[in-house]
Amino acid sequence: MFKDSKIYVAGHTGLLGSALLKRLGSEGYGNIVTRTRDELDLTDQAQVEGFFKKERPEYVFLAAGLTGGIIANKTWPAWFFHTNISIQDNVFEACRRYEVERMVYYGSSCIYPKGYPQPMKEEYLMAGPVEETSEAYAVAKIAGITACRAYNKEDGVARFIALVPNSMYGPNDNFSIEGSHVLSAVIRKLNDAKEEGRDRVVLWGSGRPLREFLFSADAADASIFAVNNAQDLEDTHYNIGSGFECTIMELADTIAKVAGYQGAIEWDAEKPDGAKRKLLDSTRFTSLGWAPKTALKEGIAATYEWYSENLSKGALCTQQQGN
Ligand SMILES: NC(=O)c1ccc[n+]([C@@H]2O[C@H](COP(=O)([O-])OP(=O)(O)OC[C@H]3O[C@@H](n4cnc5c(N)ncnc54)[C@H](OP(=O)(O)O)[C@@H]3O)[C@@H](O)[C@H]2O)c1
Repeated sequence: MFKDSKIYVAGHTGLLGSALLKRLGSEGYGNIVTRTRDELDLTDQAQVEGFFKKERPEYVFLAAGLTGGIIANKTWPAWFFHTNISIQDNVFEACRRYEVERMVYYGSSCIYPKGYPQPMKEEYLMAGPVEETSEAYAVAKIAGITACRAYNKEDGVARFIALVPNSMYGPNDNFSIEGSHVLSAVIRKLNDAKEEGRDRVVLWGSGRPLREFLFSADAADASIFAVNNAQDLEDTHYNIGSGFECTIMELADTIAKVAGYQGAIEWDAEKPDGAKRKLLDSTRFTSLGWAPKTALKEGIAATYEWYSENLSKGALCTQQQGN
């Protein structure tokens, strides 16, 4: 990518999209195009076609999509499936038709089979059934990864790059009750308890599952690295993780320290734990020369600072927007 290349960041208001915007800006990329969802609904094929015809972006980062935690995935599986499939299909077709140089697509660690050995390798894709609670979302994401290879093969051009980040967190994360993932949900719950002067918080599950978290700025950095080193990529998807795991209990303790919550943390083992462990094997990508830079505590501190500032400004949507 050249510094004046025309770059479209789809989903620039979200967790990953906002990190991409910031990172591209700080690296001197000055010709960035964005649209809010109100200005351009990516599930609408005619709108997407009109946008690409007018703007002709040379590079596209597809950070628009519908994501959510267990409750949202269980409640609205069709909404997750339809939204992600439509966005992908419309944007992939437009990237092909308007001959975008490179497009980066994002899968998710839930694409890998349930109960497979850890860390999860790229070749485990479609080797077995995925976790049922997020099946519709996972199948949509698998479709996107398959589409990258299909378009590249049929067109004979290595246009589509598929990255698979592990659970991301950072500024602009979703802190709503139904929509949040574990890290943002724990930040919200412990901060609420501190603000309300409560000395006890009950968190979901046993606290024992192991998770790997990736700071959104590191995912943005990996995305730009992938585009700028595209000549070294094989026509496959690449895992990107921090390489660092902790239990949910350790995560909660770290968040409590950062947020200044001094009360007790109790665990409701009646609530589901999800997978025991979710670690990506990112060696295929790191062997190309990329490495994550942000330690978990440092990333949580930056996320908490953003959360507190936006909460006090009343700028934070903490409710699920609904279907
Ligand atoms: N979060 C994770 O841990 C994680 C992990 C692995 C992969 N991913 C993938 O990474 C990508 C970005 O995830 P994220 O966590 O950054 O998501 P996010 O914070 O929820 O942001 C999603 C973005 O997509 C936009 N969007 C949603 N529907 C749209 C539509 N119909 N038309 C136009 N824009 C639309 C949203 O706009 P509004 O602000 O208007 O809603 C928002 O800007 C997704 O493909 C996701 O599957 C995420």
